[in-house]
Amino acid sequence: MLTAIILAAGEGKRMKSDRTKVLHKVAGTTMISRIVSAMRLSSSVHSIYVVASPNNAQSLEHELQSESLVQIVVQKEALGTAHAVQSVPLNDITTSHVLVMNGDHPLIEASDVGELFQNYEKNNLPHALVGCELEFPEHYGRLKIDTKSRLTKVVEFKDATDDEKKINLINTGIYIFEKEGLEKSISKVQPSSVTNEYYLTQLVELLQPHFGVIVGAPHLAHGVNTPDALMQAQSFVFQKKATQLLNEGVRVWDPLHCYVEPQVKLEADVELQPGVFLSGSTSVGFGTLIESGVRISNSSIGPKSHIKAYSVIEDSELEAENSVGPMAHLRSKTTLQAKVHIGNFVETKKSLFKKEAKCGHHSYIGDATIGERANIGAGTITCNYAADKKKYETKIGNDVFVGTDTKFIAPVEIGNNAITAAGSTITKDVPEKALAVARARQKNIENYHK
Ligand code: UD1
Ligand code: MG
Repeated sequence: MLTAIILAAGEGKRMKSDRTKVLHKVAGTTMISRIVSAMRLSSSVHSIYVVASPNNAQSLEHELQSESLVQIVVQKEALGTAHAVQSVPLNDITTSHVLVMNGDHPLIEASDVGELFQNYEKNNLPHALVGCELEFPEHYGRLKIDTKSRLTKVVEFKDATDDEKKINLINTGIYIFEKEGLEKSISKVQPSSVTNEYYLTQLVELLQPHFGVIVGAPHLAHGVNTPDALMQAQSFVFQKKATQLLNEGVRVWDPLHCYVEPQVKLEADVELQPGVFLSGSTSVGFGTLIESGVRISNSSIGPKSHIKAYSVIEDSELEAENSVGPMAHLRSKTTLQAKVHIGNFVETKKSLFKKEAKCGHHSYIGDATIGERANIGAGTITCNYAADKKKYETKIGNDVFVGTDTKFIAPVEIGNNAITAAGSTITKDVPEKALAVARARQKNIENYHK
């Protein structure tokens, strides 16, 4: 079994951001949460330490509060990756092995951890780092291999000679150590003469000849030090999801412009036009068409629905065969039963539309229940927010016909089959089957034009 140590105390200056580096998001999830959940989901990991800085410890604590296996330790000063490992009470670790990795490699998954540990065990060396051969090795540390194919040294890019910079085999910053060897040698690391930092990579030399290389998949090598690298990581995650969806029978029109977070669930024959964003706990049932520019978060969309261009749906539940948009905004706790139609420029919030209700144009429906087959005319507003700063409900029965430009001053209830005349401001309940007219009578003044 492994104890994982994730290093996240670096200043992350190259990100040019106020936010601490590992709290930048990749496809909706922070880098640190992605790594921690890869560790938690791997059956090889027993417990997890995250090394934080005095500045980011509180925000990391907050971000990881629901992660039971995690303990946060603080590195008082960012003096380098080896110094960061020294902040962990290695003495308390009960597993025989320790995996150390940088908190800025967000593409690792649980299956990678298991695979790396298996490869480590085949290697028969007490310590190993994960290396990777890259066509463009950029600023990563280079692995120096001797004539007997043994790893002798990691040279940091900053310290490398021109010849060393030509080496394509790089350090991913993922290591597996025998716990005892790590504990004995970590305090022996000396600061770099160039940067004065304590490099974890110096252990390769200190633990000679017991240090091997495990070759890892290229996504493990992707470290995020700059905004550009963050966006590359995000594209990788979105494109991987798009490929998976295509294999599962989802019609992704343009996999390069498909922004579906990994945990989102889509059934076969869902069709995604370019530029759709699906996030959080969203699910979409079979045969639903989602047009360009739609954003859906934490919502379930039933089968055979049609979500038209540029609509936004948040924290809502839609049953089957609904049609929404274009440019509709379904805010939190909107529920649509089957075959509801919500048209353009309609905003809804905390409202239930029963089956086959229609609200086609320019309306605000909040804190409301709309009955079956009710027809809500253009420009209808539920006036749910009163001067006492409380919200009140509007209840509209089955088969009600709401005339254009009706205002409902909540709380108010409209009986089944009632009708409101266009332009009415409804302040009183309306009985079943009644016609409510609440507007000034028209007066024509003859010969007014001079
Ligand atoms: C590091 C490796 C390099 C490797 C690369 C892979 C070292 C010395 N170099 O370089 O060989 O190719 O990762 O991406 O390890 N951190 C702390 N405390 C510190 C300094 C850093 O916790 O005092 C954390 C950072 O938050 C980061 C990680 O350690 O998550 C790596 O630090 P970073 O500065 O990104 O190192 P690289 O230059 O990327
Ligand atoms: Mg880095």
